[in-house]
Amino acid sequence: MTLTAKSVARVTLVSALLTAVAGAAIIGASPASGAASTLGAAAQQSGRYFGTAVAAGKLGDSTYTGILNREFDMVTAENEMKMDATEPNQGQFSYGNADRIVNQARNQGKRVRGHALAWHSQQPGWMQNMSGSSLRNAMLNHVTQVATYYRGKIYAWDVVNEAFADGSSGGRRDSNLQRTGNDWIEAAFRAARSADPNAKLCYNDYNTDNWSHAKTQGVYRMVQDFKSRGVPIDCVGFQAHFNSGNPVPSNYHTTLQNFAALGVDVQITELDIEGSGSSQAQQYQGVTQACLSVPRCTGITVWGIRDSDSWRASGTPLLFDGNGNKKAAYTSVLNVLNNGTDPGPTSTTSTTTTTSSNPGGGGCTATYSEGEKWSDRFNGNVTVSGTDNWIVTVTVSSPQRIIATWNTSASWDSANVMTARPNGNGNTFGFTIQHGGNWNWPSVSCRVG
Ligand code: XIL
Repeated sequence: MTLTAKSVARVTLVSALLTAVAGAAIIGASPASGAASTLGAAAQQSGRYFGTAVAAGKLGDSTYTGILNREFDMVTAENEMKMDATEPNQGQFSYGNADRIVNQARNQGKRVRGHALAWHSQQPGWMQNMSGSSLRNAMLNHVTQVATYYRGKIYAWDVVNEAFADGSSGGRRDSNLQRTGNDWIEAAFRAARSADPNAKLCYNDYNTDNWSHAKTQGVYRMVQDFKSRGVPIDCVGFQAHFNSGNPVPSNYHTTLQNFAALGVDVQITELDIEGSGSSQAQQYQGVTQACLSVPRCTGITVWGIRDSDSWRASGTPLLFDGNGNKKAAYTSVLNVLNNGTDPGPTSTTSTTTTTSSNPGGGGCTATYSEGEKWSDRFNGNVTVSGTDNWIVTVTVSSPQRIIATWNTSASWDSANVMTARPNGNGNTFGFTIQHGGNWNWPSVSCRVG
């Protein structure tokens, strides 16, 4: 704990006597926080992760493994956990390459995203020709077997991958799995939950980044429906494969926020952006900022390490060049991760004012004090003195949101500004702020009601 946070944990300003606004007073200054020098460490400052796809066949490449071990704290098997890899013959499971990736990651203290349990693509040959209840049962058995085998080792599973159609329909993609019945997705999620109750269960797709696209809306409605009916879903993965024909949408933050508001985590799961130089760097910056601005965006995974490792290598879409050197895009991501976050223990005070609306005098005092902190949110308390008939304005700064209050009757002037009044529970009230990476204290002002 640095001096800044706790030594000024209580902020008291007595109001001016007359009507004028007392004016802003800066109580604490931002502490100098050391910038992290790797993607994983930088992301951890806000409780997030930064991951990459890994290919088992490259683990012997020391440049590759060197960057992997240094920079990333989450790993996804690029192909090795897919259905064709893990069940090449029906009922016969094969985990050798997947285990190499999982063990390497876990030995290095990294976590693992599982990808993917059920998908129309990269199915083993025996499954491609199946249909009806035998396919449904084979799919469910696959989900159960693989999720059970890796139980306890997977942070989040992509339970179902790419089940929605591109284009304007907003509906499901036709596939052998879809033809087993529209409920195949929820059946897969239920089987996964039974097999590994502690893994987060994600739906993962591409072309779902732009909020106005029909496919995005289709997935949104499915997640909304699953949440309303208690189908076990915890997260939505956004693959985020971008290029000039499919650029990063300007409403990306809106998409992530709207999904998160359904009560799921959101994750950027397969990020790559074709291009080079500052234009590519700017787009990476935008995606990273979009994630940081949404409290429930828990992490970002890029789909490979060096450009030469990419499934779209000719588009040079990654953060390291073919020689393993950091690109401009790397630096822009690292800077956003560092600047966009201010870890809890060094949180700062913010502007706090108190004012009186009582022309005859008799002001009030609002005192803000820090409460508990978590990776995604923190509590604050305000104690009022000078009157029992107070009106306190609490202003948070973007992307913060007040998500809970106690001992007060609250109303909102805008998403950022809350007006608090007594509700019969005394003169101390509190609230929870979802911080989205911004740990600044709210500003608090008091007037007599
Ligand atoms: C890709 C891999 O990167 C390639 O090596 C493989 O040949 C095809 O699949 N969406 C997904 C990923 O969910 O699994 C895909 O990975 C890329 C698109």
